[in-house]
Amino acid sequence: MSDNSKEPTELAVCMGSSCFSRGNKRNIRLIKEYIDTHGLCGKVVLKGHLCEGLCKDGPNISVDGQVFNSIDSDFLEFILEDHLKLRE
Ligand code: FES
Repeated sequence: MSDNSKEPTELAVCMGSSCFSRGNKRNIRLIKEYIDTHGLCGKVVLKGHLCEGLCKDGPNISVDGQVFNSIDSDFLEFILEDHLKLRE
């Protein structure tokens, strides 16, 4: 099923030193691979941002403003599947 009527989904990855070193360096690579593999270029906007003071809960990412914490590769895959599946 395709939903091309929506605005691009915004994925924001914390690039602050804590989140970056604790997983978001890997997570941003996995997100880029997911976008490429699933043909989502143009349907997803990938952004980085500075520390937002939530380091103890990191690594953090947000999807259309909804913040997710403690992102490991399994949780990231779940989030991407859940939020981007209909964008393919
Ligand atoms: S480094 Fe990500 S919230 Fe502080």
